Amino acid sequence: MAEDICFFAKDSIIIKPPKKSPALLRMVVVAFTLIFGIYICSICLKQTSLENTSKYLNIEVIEKPCHNYDMDQSQIPYVHYPKPKTFSRAECSCNAVRRFAILSMQRSGSGWFETLLNSHMNVSSNGEIFSVKYRRENASSILRTLDTVYNLDFFTSASKNHCSAAVGFKWMLNQGLIEHHKEIVEYFNRKGVSVIFLFRKNLLRRMVSILSNSHDRYAKLLNGTHKSHVHSHEEAGTLAKYKPEINTTLLITDLKRMEVSATEALDYFNSTRHMILYYEDIVRNQAKLVDVLEFLRLPNMDLSSRQVKIHNGPLWKHIKNWDDVNKTLSGTAYEKFLRADY
Ligand SMILES: *[C@@H]1O[C@H](CO)[C@@H](O)[C@H](O)[C@H]1NC(C)=O
Ligand SMILES: *[C@@H]1O[C@H](CO)[C@@H](O)[C@H](O)[C@H]1NC(C)=O
Ligand SMILES: *[C@@H]1O[C@H](CO)[C@@H](O)[C@H](O)[C@H]1NC(C)=O
Ligand SMILES: *[C@@H]1O[C@H](CO)[C@@H](O)[C@H](O)[C@H]1NC(C)=O
Ligand SMILES: *[C@@H]1O[C@H](CO)[C@@H](O)[C@H](O)[C@H]1NC(C)=O
Ligand SMILES: *[C@@H]1O[C@H](CO)[C@@H](O)[C@H](O)[C@H]1NC(C)=O
Ligand SMILES: *[C@@H]1O[C@H](CO)[C@@H](O)[C@H](O)[C@H]1NC(C)=O
Repeated sequence: MAEDICFFAKDSIIIKPPKKSPALLRMVVVAFTLIFGIYICSICLKQTSLENTSKYLNIEVIEKPCHNYDMDQSQIPYVHYPKPKTFSRAECSCNAVRRFAILSMQRSGSGWFETLLNSHMNVSSNGEIFSVKYRRENASSILRTLDTVYNLDFFTSASKNHCSAAVGFKWMLNQGLIEHHKEIVEYFNRKGVSVIFLFRKNLLRRMVSILSNSHDRYAKLLNGTHKSHVHSHEEAGTLAKYKPEINTTLLITDLKRMEVSATEALDYFNSTRHMILYYEDIVRNQAKLVDVLEFLRLPNMDLSSRQVKIHNGPLWKHIKNWDDVNKTLSGTAYEKFLRADY
């Protein structure tokens, strides 16, 4: 192609040769043709290698380092500067981002806790992403999902945008977390993921919440819709009217099992950077959340949630066969669960 253009240029110039000093003119024409030809050829060459060039340019832009000179040196392993594939972080592209994961169990207040965290303008907590089975099919699908989340490329209704300073999600112990703990702990330590354990102290109250919630799955007490979380006292009151009956044959075994899975998780994830939170402590004193913001090194800010607690007051109000339950647990290690009110 370059050659055609070169010849064409030559021809068009030769069409009208002036009559004076033909030798000089010929030399000028040859020189001009040569320069023009080289110019055209260089353009042609540039075009064929455009793909490579643009690749290099991209890499240069992507790898332009962000500085963390004014950061506490000990914190460097825990921050990164994600370059999302799906959007631009714009003016916040050099804001450090921390990775976190909330490890919890169902009906332990993690939904409420997550809405509180997400009310912070710099937090993106993406919900219970591993409730979807194919994401936790094997260790490699888990790690792939984690990479997407931490690169800010995972989109949920809760996810925020370019100025996030902490990104994470909540993960229930029975969603592949214990099963693949080895690979996950290795990943967490390699990537500097901060772990927030959120447990409930009163496992009997947790049991009431589990039984009521699974009853509501088919009873659908709120105008025919099932709700796991509510936003008004009226709705909470409606749901709390149902009093579950607890099978006392298995009560102690079930409580023991819940306790063991929490201890097991703490053991496995002991080597990660972590903090342990109890739902009861946050309910009693929301100022506890300052510890979480400090743990994630986020600017302090008031956090709020629209969620309303469902089962309030003494526990005997919420269990149908209270006397049986009281008798079964009196004198055992779990007696304390009968009394704690909040
Ligand atoms: C440049 O691109 C061509 C094809 O687009 C490829 O064959 C070649 O390996 C690339 N060169 C480099 C240095 O990447
Ligand atoms: C993990 O699961 C995915 C499907 O989600 C599958 O494509 C992949 O082959 C599996 N990997 C291993 C190592 O089993
Ligand atoms: C938090 O978000 C605000 C507004 O989007 C942004 O200006 C600020 O830099 C962010 N803070 C951090 C620590 O990233
Ligand atoms: C049920 O629906 C009625 C009217 O549609 C509404 O007034 C009431 O608040 C709803 N109750 C609940 C518990 O959502
Ligand atoms: C309690 O659980 C045991 C063992 O699963 C079962 O045999 C028994 O029928 C249950 N009791 C009630 C009242 O459901
Ligand atoms: C991890 O467990 C060991 C004993 O198993 C304990 O001594 C240590 O304090 C634990 N570390 C953390 C960070 O909890
Ligand atoms: C539980 O049972 C004990 C007797 O075993 C009784 O003294 C106590 O009042 C009961 N507690 C409640 C809250 O009913």
